[in-house]
Amino acid sequence: MRTPIAAGNWKMNLGPQEAEQFARTLRAQLDGLAGVDTVLFPPYIAIAPVHRAIAGSTLQLGAQNCADVASGAYTGEVSAPMIAELCRWVILGHSERRIYFGETDTFITRKALAALGAGLQPIVCIGESIEDREANLTERVITAHLQALMTEVPDDQIGRVTIAYEPYWAIGTGHTPNRQNVEDVVAIIRALVAERYGMAAGEAMRILYGGSVTSTTIQEFTGSPHIDGALIGGASLTADFVAIANAIAQSKTV
Ligand code: PGA
Repeated sequence: MRTPIAAGNWKMNLGPQEAEQFARTLRAQLDGLAGVDTVLFPPYIAIAPVHRAIAGSTLQLGAQNCADVASGAYTGEVSAPMIAELCRWVILGHSERRIYFGETDTFITRKALAALGAGLQPIVCIGESIEDREANLTERVITAHLQALMTEVPDDQIGRVTIAYEPYWAIGTGHTPNRQNVEDVVAIIRALVAERYGMAAGEAMRILYGGSVTSTTIQEFTGSPHIDGALIGGASLTADFVAIANAIAQSKTV
């Protein structure tokens, strides 16, 4: 039984003060919600205040990125061991990192290894562009992303990796694929993981959908036994996140 995840990626929004306040509001409404891992991903500088705000609650914390090395002369970077002092999770390979900051599969894989080495649980984002989709290249793109990762992640670590399927064209656009589209990609991911690590690992992997998720669009996906929750951007900055987390929790408990 895979516990679903409601992951709120705040991106570059909410400084330390606003973030702490918003986390307290979310805590008041989501603490104790069973059947879902509810995880907040504030900007680096707001991690400590949010950690304070949710301490002792069932809400969990993560970073939106990490460095591929543990320490040293890397101005502006934050390492996985530093993040692990306050967080359990880290998002890696988000399409905005790939597109705006030139992150490659090789680089993202090094970050994943650093995160796993520090005891973090990475959520690795993969997805295709609209051009890839229109050219029927979705499977090829997904496979390339995953194979880069799976070549390096050892058998005893894959159980701590979560995959977020986020088609680039669905992020922040209001456009979402339908349930069948997502289930098709999830099936490809599970098959690739099973081929590399065995059936049990394929079955156990948590696979999220991300891209324009709201309390309305989530209804398309919550009924699916194959989709294990969502990575939520814009809607995670509003009260809608509470409704989404509840919808995900309920879908798996009935
Ligand atoms: P969105 O972002 O929900 O605002 O589309 C999703 C994401 O980037 O993870």
